[in-house]
Amino acid sequence: MTELKKLKDDYAGRDFLSLLDYTTADLTYFLDVADRLKREHKAGRETPYLKGKTMGLIFEKSSTRTRVSFESGIYYLGGQGLFLSSHDLQIGRGEPIKDTARVLSRFLDGLMIRTFSHSVVEELAAYADIPVINGLTDLLHPCQVLADLQTIREHKGQLAGLKLAFIGDGNNMAHSLLNGGARMGMHVCCACPEGYLPDAGVLAGASAAAELSGGSVEVAQDPMQAAADADVIYTDVWASMGQEAEKAAREAVFAGIYQVNDSLMAQAKPDAMVLHCLPAHRGEEITDAVFEAHPEIFDEAENRLYAQMSIMSLLLQKRP
Ligand code: CP
Ligand code: NVA
Repeated sequence: MTELKKLKDDYAGRDFLSLLDYTTADLTYFLDVADRLKREHKAGRETPYLKGKTMGLIFEKSSTRTRVSFESGIYYLGGQGLFLSSHDLQIGRGEPIKDTARVLSRFLDGLMIRTFSHSVVEELAAYADIPVINGLTDLLHPCQVLADLQTIREHKGQLAGLKLAFIGDGNNMAHSLLNGGARMGMHVCCACPEGYLPDAGVLAGASAAAELSGGSVEVAQDPMQAAADADVIYTDVWASMGQEAEKAAREAVFAGIYQVNDSLMAQAKPDAMVLHCLPAHRGEEITDAVFEAHPEIFDEAENRLYAQMSIMSLLLQKRP
């Protein structure tokens, strides 16, 4: 096993809350390690970078991919994951996050949390003495986008200079794609309806990052315009977790316009990839025909495993 700490900077002890907390070089390194862990895992070689370590996985929302990829990834790294549902934890009965953070820091080596308000992850990280990984908030989904970047790089051989069009709600996925794409020198164009645009603060941060990397960020209202000559078309559900009550109102705004279908794909480059963080709602944000024609969506889901193994290996390694 190669010592990860000898390869580059020491990331031990850092949190992973937003892709913007890391530089272009850092993210490239996370991706390189993810690729390497994927090769080693597929070759049947052991990568016990979390040997003897424990990771708590707090879920305040549902999950298929995040839960299973974190749990398997921790196992493949030789560690032990603890699934902690908020239905069972005392936080579900009102115990403050700051107390939970300090208690769990005495038992564990790392924490992942999926929650609603981004401020909860920030508070957890502020009070925890161990690395905290953001497994999705209403604002951001950085683990997903690290896996997305890994998938795009695998298929296209590069990130810088590529155009990614995001079609749909200006949500957590749009935000992390803006952040990650901007850091990696990509041109990210989000087509979102009025009233559902990406957060202005996120856009400003991504725009500053794009200026440094030679990329760009843009918001359009016309999905066809956003998709023009795109290398990657990305979409996500119209109503995210926690927005179930708005489902009908959102459908009325998005339906028929903010959908990845054959006419939209005709605007993109002929070899454009289609990505979706999943779960997908066929017939809403994407047609069944487009979805089934793009199996790279499942490479993307698979890469959650390796992207997160990379994050955990780098954040939880011992200081030299
Ligand atoms: N994409 C993603 O995070 O999926 P889950 O909600 O199933 O974890
Ligand atoms: N925007 C979606 C992403 C799910 C992975 C949600 O927050 O529900």
